[in-house]
Amino acid sequence: MKAYEITNKGGEGALALVDRPKPSPGPGEVLIRVRAASLNYRDLLTIRGRMGAGTKPGLIPLSDGAGEVAEVGSGVTRVRAGDRVAGIFTPGWISGRPRRGVADASLGGGNTDGMLREYALLHESAVVHIPKHFSFEEAATLPCAAVTAWNALVAAGHVAAGETVVVQGTGGVSIFGLQFARMSGARVIATTGSENKMARLRELGAEVINYKTTPDWDKRVMELTDGEGADHILDVGGAGTLAHALQAIRSGGFITVIGLLTGMSGEINPLGILFRAAHVVGIRVGSREMFEDMNRAIESNRMRPVIDRVFQFEEAPAALDYLASGRHFGKICIRV
Ligand SMILES: NC(=O)c1ccc[n+]([C@@H]2O[C@H](COP(=O)([O-])OP(=O)(O)OC[C@H]3O[C@@H](n4cnc5c(N)ncnc54)[C@H](OP(=O)(O)O)[C@@H]3O)[C@@H](O)[C@H]2O)c1
Repeated sequence: MKAYEITNKGGEGALALVDRPKPSPGPGEVLIRVRAASLNYRDLLTIRGRMGAGTKPGLIPLSDGAGEVAEVGSGVTRVRAGDRVAGIFTPGWISGRPRRGVADASLGGGNTDGMLREYALLHESAVVHIPKHFSFEEAATLPCAAVTAWNALVAAGHVAAGETVVVQGTGGVSIFGLQFARMSGARVIATTGSENKMARLRELGAEVINYKTTPDWDKRVMELTDGEGADHILDVGGAGTLAHALQAIRSGGFITVIGLLTGMSGEINPLGILFRAAHVVGIRVGSREMFEDMNRAIESNRMRPVIDRVFQFEEAPAALDYLASGRHFGKICIRV
């Protein structure tokens, strides 16, 4: 079978197309014929080598993939050959809170091979059925970005109709956050650094702030909410956005710390959290149970993900360059 491995090309991480033996499922295991995969910002960090020393040589990258069950091992009861499934991001996190260390082992990172390959072997507990109205490309967008947004807004945040949600930028997590917020009847304020993405955000039902021309976007959020602030902020910026989020949150509001797009370290004034009585919560994607709850909501709302572009399997390196360019709106997929 064909697969991509992470290789070192001239000192920089890159993708190498290789042949590997097709695996066979052992007891409790499921062999998936992968039909589509999708990219996340984390894959860029893993492949280009900025995720630290923990990535094994020759790792197959990408957490997100969907396909059909080709074969099952003995004792498998959760799925059957022919079922349409996706792998879950954190194979060991089924429900509840993640036990210490469990959230560290995820597909396409560290020692755990990911989904950029024709066949993937997963334990039956680490797969979910995909929404019935989805293509494989659509289903491949879900395991990381969508589950993260769902966890932040619904599982952890308990978003309610009429609340105001702020999402930052137009990447995978934020566009799912926008869609789930609208699905829940919430008002959405979205930021973007790109003038030409503003119209598309409005089409999806968001009010828009350009964080480049309005660097103090928190002040604009306060204006738009009559001085109250937002109920929820999905913070994907990290060091450069968290202080603004603390200015834009309403009293008792909910900030989820999700991403580090602008850096990992910075100063946070604890008084900001205290005075706003803010809930500041770290998110690490989510459990299988959250994924399944989300899929039910997606099906009953006939919701569809926003896919910017689908690349062919041979074009995987170009897909990664496209992600790095930041030109995308929503998700980038790879057909396998
Ligand atoms: N904790 C978790 O469980 C978890 C899960 C998934 C992702 N993440 C993290 O969340 C972040 C987003 O991931 P993703 O896969 O959605 O990324 P992505 O699809 O690559 O999206 C990146 C987008 O972020 C926007 N952006 C860049 N700098 C920004 C800034 N200063 N302020 C606001 N927006 C900015 C840009 O949108 P515009 O062009 O519109 O400005 C850019 O297109 C990453 O740091 C990722 O590692 C964390």
